[in-house]
Amino acid sequence: MLIFQLTSQAHLKYICNLELIIYKSFIATNSFNQKVNQVSIQNKLKYSKMSDKKKENKEINMSLLPNEDLQSSQVSTARSSFVSSNGKETTQGGEKSKEHTIINFSKFQKFNEEKTEMDVVEEDAFEKYNKIDKNKVFQKEIKIEYREKDEDKKGPNGGKQKKQKFEWKLYKKLLEYVMREKWLVFIIYSTLFISTASQTFIPYMVGQLLNEVTKTGSDTSVQSTSLIFLGLILITCFFGFFRAMYTNLLGNKVTMYLKRDIFDKFVGYDVAFFEKNKTGDLMSRLGRDVSTARAAVSFNSTMLLRNFLLCISNIIMLFVLSWKVTLSIIPIIPSYYLVTKYYSYKSKQIEKRISDINAASSELAEEVFSGIMTVKSFGQEEYEKKRFEKILQDEYVENRWSGILNAAFFTINNNFLANIGILIVLWYGGYIVVNSQDDLSSGDLASFILYSTSLATNSSAISYGLGAIISATGALERIFEMMQYNPSIKNDSGQEVATITGSVQFKDVTFSYPSNKVQVLHGINVSISPGDCVAFVGTSGSGKSTIIKLIERFYDATTGEVQLDDRNVKDIKISSLRKHIGLVSQEPMLFSGSVIDNIVYGVEKYTIEEVDKACAMAGVDEFLKDRTLFPKGYDTIVGERGTKLSGGQKQRVAIARALIKHPQILIFDEATSALDAESEYLVQQSIDSLIQNRTMTIVVIAHRLSTIKNCSKIIVMQQGKIVESGTHNELISHEGPYKALVERQLSHKI
Ligand SMILES: Nc1ncnc2c1ncn2[C@@H]1O[C@H](COP(=O)(O)OP(=O)(O)OP(=O)(O)O)[C@@H](O)[C@H]1O
Ligand SMILES: [Mg+2]
Repeated sequence: MLIFQLTSQAHLKYICNLELIIYKSFIATNSFNQKVNQVSIQNKLKYSKMSDKKKENKEINMSLLPNEDLQSSQVSTARSSFVSSNGKETTQGGEKSKEHTIINFSKFQKFNEEKTEMDVVEEDAFEKYNKIDKNKVFQKEIKIEYREKDEDKKGPNGGKQKKQKFEWKLYKKLLEYVMREKWLVFIIYSTLFISTASQTFIPYMVGQLLNEVTKTGSDTSVQSTSLIFLGLILITCFFGFFRAMYTNLLGNKVTMYLKRDIFDKFVGYDVAFFEKNKTGDLMSRLGRDVSTARAAVSFNSTMLLRNFLLCISNIIMLFVLSWKVTLSIIPIIPSYYLVTKYYSYKSKQIEKRISDINAASSELAEEVFSGIMTVKSFGQEEYEKKRFEKILQDEYVENRWSGILNAAFFTINNNFLANIGILIVLWYGGYIVVNSQDDLSSGDLASFILYSTSLATNSSAISYGLGAIISATGALERIFEMMQYNPSIKNDSGQEVATITGSVQFKDVTFSYPSNKVQVLHGINVSISPGDCVAFVGTSGSGKSTIIKLIERFYDATTGEVQLDDRNVKDIKISSLRKHIGLVSQEPMLFSGSVIDNIVYGVEKYTIEEVDKACAMAGVDEFLKDRTLFPKGYDTIVGERGTKLSGGQKQRVAIARALIKHPQILIFDEATSALDAESEYLVQQSIDSLIQNRTMTIVVIAHRLSTIKNCSKIIVMQQGKIVESGTHNELISHEGPYKALVERQLSHKI
């Protein structure tokens, strides 16, 4: 029998949420009586967050009696009774209403307008699977998801992507990086002005030389004009070389500064930041976006100025040579500009798509290569080959479009427009020369052709460069937005604590992860005295690891306080807090390098005696002393992520790494969960002996009876709550979850 008590001014939205929660979880495993706006149910289901702001007047109390199957009709009953109450009064139970027998997700959607990131996103998928004939046989599809889809829909803040336009604010920020190298900027712009000025006169000199050759025929004047010409060429080349070289250098410097700042910022951010942002996205900030920014600042901006200056000087020279012919070719110039603008717009779209496809192909290859054993053991080599082939096909199609676009652009711009321009100049200019009007010589005509070609090239380069700078705006926006993230846990606040005794207190702690706001810890009160060994046991997902994360202050408690030595952890400087805590996590991560590199990872100074001692305590010496397997001893290279070590060996290195810090609090989070029986036994022995000879506070999450038994206190957790605590003997003396757990373990049911 299910009884719902729906209180206060709850909104229909919450009933819909409630339905969803209940329907998705189907049956909550244990009896619970809690506020539904904080319900925590496992099964990896997502459900809606109740708006924090409206929490007080939108509570729904629900009680579900144990061992009762929950049926949708019951949910509907509660729902209809609630709907009829219009959220104004408390209603219990209610009459069964046929129209609500099917859970109505569309209503849920309707009332789900204040969307937040953790709102239910699955209702469609859920409906979809409900409608499917359960016996229908499906052929597995080759599915590839390109990142572009998400990124195009969303802006960096998750909102709709806005059309990119030049933003001076962002560009100014980038220029701050550029201005760190004032001297380089000075050299680049000086050389740019000189080389551009000398280049401006080269077409003119071509004309002059031709005039000398055709008109005077005098050797000396041809030679002297040639010498001036040569001088101009040398000046252009000399200063052009230094401009290009220093521009590159500036680009490298900006890249270096940007990458360093981005990395420094990211590493300093709290764990929540890394949950919000996918590793791939962070990598593209460091890689692709920095390259785009670099191009915008170094290459494009200096080239743009150069092209602009050349355009102006070309136009002046054209008018000086012949204003009539100049006017005749003027319509050609905007055509160049417009064709290039369209080309760069289109090619950018294609380039983006190609780069997303490329990213997908490298991601796929990386995934397959790193998970090759799983691929092989499931015999999925052919499937993976087909997936890769699909990406290559997509890339081919995009590249084909790119090829067509390139060919069309070069044909229109370089062949058609350029030659039409030359034709107009020769036809109209030739007419003027032949009729000896305006003092226009054939040499001038040659200069004219060169100037007009140069004008066309430079104006199309401006259009292209502007496009590149605008596209850099997106990259800059993404970079600077991430660099402005304000972590809620700050590294530099709080006091240094030189020594601690090792007591830990949880006072009425509740906690929700920032990423989904579902409450996972409820009213936790724990007291751990210095030198205690406390074990946390409980079902999977009950919040054990979360407790550890709060002690380490990877997150802050939502309400209540976590204390270390009677001091709120928020008042202790992060680095000094973590210095006193040694953590061996559920899936320890080793870094590439040698065994000793990994052991001394968390310390600045060490002696070999300390390393030996930590290794002896952690059981590292037992496997490392095998000279045939580890001829290099401590200097054995562990491979990327420690792949050259077995699970148990890795785990023991992780224990030694925690011990060498001489922590006052040592934490094991299910340190043996990923191990086979033999490795588990060895690691467990190390942990058990540490517990027995302890000189520090030990917090251990474990399921092995021998470990738990040795602890001075055992805390049993279920669904984010402490349901029992005491010593092994106390807990075993009465019927309860712990006793059930122990009995199951002894009868090998788990
Ligand atoms: N980073 C996270 N973001 C959001 N929710 C999380 C996160 N980590 C854990 N959770 C949720 O918090 C709840 C408690 O997780 P926790 O890892 O503390 O469980 P646990 O007791 O350690 O389980 P296990 O024994 O399987 O390790 C789970 O429902 C889980 O889905
Ligand atoms: Mg865990």
